[in-house]
Amino acid sequence: MENNLFLDAAFSKQTERPPVWMMRQAGRFMPQYWEIKNKYSFLEMCKTPEIAADVTMLPVDLLGIDAAILFSDILVTGEAMGGDLSFTQGVGPKFANPVRNEADIDALATDCLDKLQYVADAIKVIQQRLNGSIPLIGFAGAPFTVMSYLVEGGSSKDFKLTKLLIHNHPELAHKLLAKIAKVTTDYLNLQIEAGVNALQLFDSWALALSWNDYQEFSHQYNQQIIAGLNRTNIPVISFCKGSSVFAPIMAEAKPDVISVDWNADLLNIKKALPVGIAVQGNLDPHILYANQPVIKAQIHKLFERMRGENGFIFNLGHGIMPDIPFDNVKYAIEVVKEFKY
Ligand code: CP3
Repeated sequence: MENNLFLDAAFSKQTERPPVWMMRQAGRFMPQYWEIKNKYSFLEMCKTPEIAADVTMLPVDLLGIDAAILFSDILVTGEAMGGDLSFTQGVGPKFANPVRNEADIDALATDCLDKLQYVADAIKVIQQRLNGSIPLIGFAGAPFTVMSYLVEGGSSKDFKLTKLLIHNHPELAHKLLAKIAKVTTDYLNLQIEAGVNALQLFDSWALALSWNDYQEFSHQYNQQIIAGLNRTNIPVISFCKGSSVFAPIMAEAKPDVISVDWNADLLNIKKALPVGIAVQGNLDPHILYANQPVIKAQIHKLFERMRGENGFIFNLGHGIMPDIPFDNVKYAIEVVKEFKY
């Protein structure tokens, strides 16, 4: 690899500056994304390896980040299992056949890797394009977060149906989570075989759970998945919104990196983790709406706080919003790349 900053930091080795990539770095904040998006649906883009590779490469070519992330979505596992998935502009993801009872759970497939072969194909095309320049991050949704979309039928503010399921019918929730966890493990192993250099598990909505429910309905499945990966020298990043609170539990699943939301002081989180677990984060993405001197000052403040720490990957606490100015994202990345410890 020409640029080892990301992998070195992920394995808690010393780097000359923090590596940078951003969640949702290939998306609607980029005018060049729209040139492609105007011609195809989002799922067509994900399922056509050449197009998925084109979009993956946009932030590589235009922003100069230190790691690329596969262009896909966390909900493709739910679709492969039998979810009728669509993405509509302004509405977001929808499953037209939400999971509401045991028969719906039983109907979901767990031997469905053939339906995700397009992702392996995309990874191979992307690695040809990257040609050893920077690492490629693969990813999947964590079972709790994917379950919430399958049960609610789409995005949710309060996760009411998901919480009713875990509280009134915990045995059914576990049946569903175990099925998703099995598919997710197989799917991430498929990505490893296809050639990714790192993996991130997205448990975006874990924040909705209490401490006890997090352990029972999220953590144990994430732990199972991480333990089930056939990997050597492929770091795993565990992300959730809520990591400021759940980081000590997340560490028990033995990821190499914990991706932290913006609520916590990153150094305090890191110091409380076992030695050898790196941290990723944790700029509030809303900072990227602000004036450029503010962006620079906030990044420098974080970096001064983390000075002297091995195992720090710069990222946002959550994904880039679609209306964040492209020039501000580019500027933030330049600020990071000019920084020297
Ligand atoms: O980070 C990247 O650039 C790689 C690609 C990527 C996408 N989604 C592309 C996408 C990744 C890593 C994801 C993960 C994802 N998807 C998450 C976890 C990360 C997070 O933000 O918490 C979640 C919760 C989803 C589910 C999802 N997909 C939602 C809620 C939406 C609609 C809301 C939105 O932001 O549009 C999507 C659609 C989606 N996924 C788009 C993209 C580029 C927008 C599609 C479009 O162009 O209309």
